[in-house]
Amino acid sequence: MRRREFLGKTIIGTAGIALGGSALLNSCKGANDKIVLALIGAGGRGVPTIISCCSSNTNVEIKTVCDVNDERSAAAVSEIEKKLGYKPQAKRYMKEVFDDSDIDAVWIATPDHWHALATIWACQSGKDVYVEKTPGLCIAEGRKMADAAKKYRQIVQAGFQNRSGAYIAAARDYIQSGKLGQVVHIRIFNLLTGTKWIAAADSEIPAGLEWNEWLGPAPLRKFNAGILNGWYNYYDYNPGTLNDASHQLDITRMLMGDPGHPRSVYGWGGKNIFHSERESPESQSITYDFDKFTVTVDSGNGTNYMSKTPQDIRMDPTRFPEWKTNADRIEIYGTLGMMYMGRTGGGWQVYGPGEQKIAEGGGIHPDKEHQINFIESIRNRKQPNASMEQAHLSASLVHFANIAYRTGNKQLLFDGQKEIFIDNDEANKLLKVSYRDNYIVPEKI
Ligand SMILES: NC(=O)c1ccc[n+]([C@@H]2O[C@H](COP(=O)([O-])OP(=O)(O)OC[C@H]3O[C@@H](n4cnc5c(N)ncnc54)[C@H](O)[C@@H]3O)[C@@H](O)[C@H]2O)c1
Repeated sequence: MRRREFLGKTIIGTAGIALGGSALLNSCKGANDKIVLALIGAGGRGVPTIISCCSSNTNVEIKTVCDVNDERSAAAVSEIEKKLGYKPQAKRYMKEVFDDSDIDAVWIATPDHWHALATIWACQSGKDVYVEKTPGLCIAEGRKMADAAKKYRQIVQAGFQNRSGAYIAAARDYIQSGKLGQVVHIRIFNLLTGTKWIAAADSEIPAGLEWNEWLGPAPLRKFNAGILNGWYNYYDYNPGTLNDASHQLDITRMLMGDPGHPRSVYGWGGKNIFHSERESPESQSITYDFDKFTVTVDSGNGTNYMSKTPQDIRMDPTRFPEWKTNADRIEIYGTLGMMYMGRTGGGWQVYGPGEQKIAEGGGIHPDKEHQINFIESIRNRKQPNASMEQAHLSASLVHFANIAYRTGNKQLLFDGQKEIFIDNDEANKLLKVSYRDNYIVPEKI
């Protein structure tokens, strides 16, 4: 019996009964068996990363490229043929992927409004999942994605690749061993370049694009090229400015031993630089209260003299960036010293009194390590480094900040056990999004 049939007939069919799933699954997929992948969302991120996953692991193949845009799938098929030497098939509808019993795991790299539904459908059809960040468009979606991974016993690895960074794990161990003293303040920067965003007019749907399926769970609207190419500016498709800073928020949680939700968030945001015609702000400043320490984030698109860690330093474990103008650094302030932490490689360095360097650890951008960890997790049925439970908690920090901004730059108190805002109906309405028929993220997983 093939693994998919086995899953469908036993684990999904008897949800809730403890089956000793890990041992059973191991017996179905040996350490050297081929793992068959499908890409869902053949854009700028999905294509190079799935190719890299196949090159970095043995016996991993792509059977299908699924994209609602024929031009994108054709380009992906030809790129895969060039890099891996074979041609996958192209499909338009992800349901065809979920119905294919040859496919073991899906690589979801659509815009963010599809992440939850695609992950849940994949888990329900017995597929393992790699899902790009930000996992879920709202707090309720993140919770359901984590619940789906657990209920259907699928491996779900989120695209928070820094969780597989050896240098970040070393920094976590340094902090957790007390060498930085008591950590009291953490400052996250995501100060990126940008220009004025000008909205486009609605127009005819281009040939070869299935716009209704692109929208999927999002509200029905006319085709708009500005949205197709700049979906990250609109809350129906993406958590906005902070989507990118979600990596530093995730690293911060990892460094601090993966705490639960914060007690409160104060968020400020504005379109105060270019006065762009987009929904998400150009600048955001946020403070989270984690009881024993605070985390602040300064994020935006108007500091054109800042840059992320340059490519040559990213992949060189012996070099460190110029921290002052490093656009996506984290600063961790303890009672004994402060640590600079690079997000896109760049390692970490610790300074004490008199600007004395106390310790450092080099490191590279860990995309490849994350891809290796995903495949290992599929083979040995162990939780991946960026499990959905942790990814949900990290992504929630992004949603908290957006809700604070969208409810008028306020401070919000949160009940982390119940996952609701305290005495705040307006904020609680934004814990969820609404869906169109046929694209409903189920209330109960
Ligand atoms: N982990 C990281 O460091 C990192 C870096 C960049 C982007 N990302 C994330 O990766 C995701 C993709 O980003 P991108 O820059 O590649 O975007 P993109 O717009 O280039 O690609 C998205 C692709 O998804 C396709 N798509 C949309 N709806 C679909 C559907 N229903 N079925 C199949 N395909 C569909 C689009 O046609 C497009 O080709 C985003 O969630 C983004 O946040 C993560």
